[in-house]
Amino acid sequence: MEFHVYENARAACEAAGVLIAAQITRKGDSVLGLATGSTPIPAYEMLVSWYKRGVIDFDRVRTFNLDEYVGIDEKNPLSYHSFMEEHLFSKVNLRPENVHLPSGRSSLDGVAYDEAIRQAGGIDIQLLGIGRNGHIGFNEPAADFTYGTHVVTLTEDTIEANARFFNSADDVPRQAISMGIGNIMSARCVVLVATGESKANAVYRTIRGPITPEVPASILQLHPCCVILTDREAGKLMTD
Ligand code: PGA
Repeated sequence: MEFHVYENARAACEAAGVLIAAQITRKGDSVLGLATGSTPIPAYEMLVSWYKRGVIDFDRVRTFNLDEYVGIDEKNPLSYHSFMEEHLFSKVNLRPENVHLPSGRSSLDGVAYDEAIRQAGGIDIQLLGIGRNGHIGFNEPAADFTYGTHVVTLTEDTIEANARFFNSADDVPRQAISMGIGNIMSARCVVLVATGESKANAVYRTIRGPITPEVPASILQLHPCCVILTDREAGKLMTD
């Protein structure tokens, strides 16, 4: 596991953008695993800026997002579909048919999503944020690690953390559909970005703690190509 601490959040996120851009340069039809949330926004800004300057080309790139809420329409401005449209899809030359997000509309959708990832040849690079409770995607602390894409019930901690995007915590959907830990571990390379003091404990437990489904990200200790990028605040427990 490779771990780097950066002076500030923007630098940590931009470093993730560098790794994704390098992947696209190395392999024009790369399969990207993408994440939503506040953390990755600067990485998407970098990618858009490099695209506009002709440095990278998304024409053959395929993307699979980690997760989506269940029960809100994809056109809803708070859906992860809308987030990705706003921050990346509408700003680069990704082909609509090459863009994928899971959908919780039927119980088969998780299986179909896993099959679509398999058909694409697997994910080359998976971008991840992390929850304060150590979740990755919407894989919440649990008794077991999950495998494939599945519907999850969000924890109170996650509902509270995500309430900032909604009018109130009551408006946050109670369920989401998420790639499983198995999907994430199958990616050839994983890049996790964590910023802000509220993530410090999760980062410490991910890297130094026991591998346990109580801290879903801790399984990344077993991943052969995992890079963790933080700002000073999120990395502050890792200094010794
Ligand atoms: P955030 O979310 O980037 O908005 O902090 C990360 C996550 O919950 O995985």
